[in-house]
Amino acid sequence: MAIFDKFQELAQTRRMLQDSGIDSIHVVMDEIVSPTEAIVNGRSMILAGTNNYLGLTFDSTCIEAACDAARKQGTGTTGSRVANGSYSNHVELERELADFFDCHGVIVFSTGYVANLGMLAGLTQPGDALLIDADCHASIYDGCRLSGADIFRFRHDDPQDLEKRLRRLGDRASNTVIVVEGIYSMFGDRAPLAEFVEVKNRYGAYLLVDEAHSLGVLGQHGRGRAEEAGVLDKVDFIVGTFSKSLGAIGGYCASNHPELDLVRYAARPYVFTASPSPSTIASTRAALEQLRSRPELRHRLWENAGRLYEGLQGLGFELSPEPSPIIAVRLSSREQAVMSWLELIERGVYVNLVLPPGTPDGGSLLRCSVSAGHTSQQIDSICEAFKALQPGQQTAEIA
Ligand SMILES: Cc1ncc(COP(=O)(O)O)c(C=O)c1O
Repeated sequence: MAIFDKFQELAQTRRMLQDSGIDSIHVVMDEIVSPTEAIVNGRSMILAGTNNYLGLTFDSTCIEAACDAARKQGTGTTGSRVANGSYSNHVELERELADFFDCHGVIVFSTGYVANLGMLAGLTQPGDALLIDADCHASIYDGCRLSGADIFRFRHDDPQDLEKRLRRLGDRASNTVIVVEGIYSMFGDRAPLAEFVEVKNRYGAYLLVDEAHSLGVLGQHGRGRAEEAGVLDKVDFIVGTFSKSLGAIGGYCASNHPELDLVRYAARPYVFTASPSPSTIASTRAALEQLRSRPELRHRLWENAGRLYEGLQGLGFELSPEPSPIIAVRLSSREQAVMSWLELIERGVYVNLVLPPGTPDGGSLLRCSVSAGHTSQQIDSICEAFKALQPGQQTAEIA
């Protein structure tokens, strides 16, 4: 069997979608006008699927910091810190993040995906156990596989189911890492972290929380779901990304365990990949400063999230359970989701089309993500575009 034979089914699906004009990779943004607007095919498009929660991608201090770092330190590091050493900016950013989370130490990774791979594969090995929320992100699943540890899933957001599985592990419970997310990326729901902490403490297990979508979004100081739930100092490992609220690329793990530093040497996804570029680290440091000093960005984000949620709810759409900067609109079929996504683009609004098997419960979604950078007028325009979809009315089918 030839190596590409297995792609036949995938190729057929891609062809079918492309023939219908559906391929997000080929929606080319010719010009990025602002954090919330781009020009596509000569037409203005409101961006409502970006994860650019604080709208910092065009912040002048971040841009200046990135340009300055590139001029002074070059465009790339060209290697791993284990081989080539650290730039002072890497060390400064780790110190600033440790100060922000008020924790013992931080490791910076090259992306959020790699942070999950590195932490899970660095912390656990064959013979250990990983207990993961069933709705966890693909990077968590991939990190689990890379570790070689035994993987068990528990029901989404269900501390009782977690406890049942920990009990079954017996003596192995203390060699177990539990993995959940702060805000879940598809439906925007929040993990019951205080309950999870209570359970993990009873069994002496470890808890890792991926705050990719909650950094800068939740908590009095924007530290995420753990801060909001009052358990920041009780979570063992906080993982996150620079690619969403901080508008750059990169990832991190923050922890109070003094042994965290050793993971740098044990985690292949840390050892065998280049460290983030000077401009990336510099803009991330500037964005972190903005996150800390401008709580109004977070307040504006939540105002916008509430406005969009209310608007879409008023139009009769079936939405994710609670208002959040991630708002998933559930459509009754794959065809309806696809047609609606195309219609929104036609009306100048870009959201994420999420089809099975990419969704936790097999549903078809239009996933909106709100930004502090959206104006009230843009939020109203998004609602106007959705209004044209007439929930539950569409019957058109794709070829
Ligand atoms: C929950 C979660 N974790 C990790 C990642 C990976 O982050 P990055 O895109 O920075 O690699 C994502 C990205 O969407 C995510 O949603």
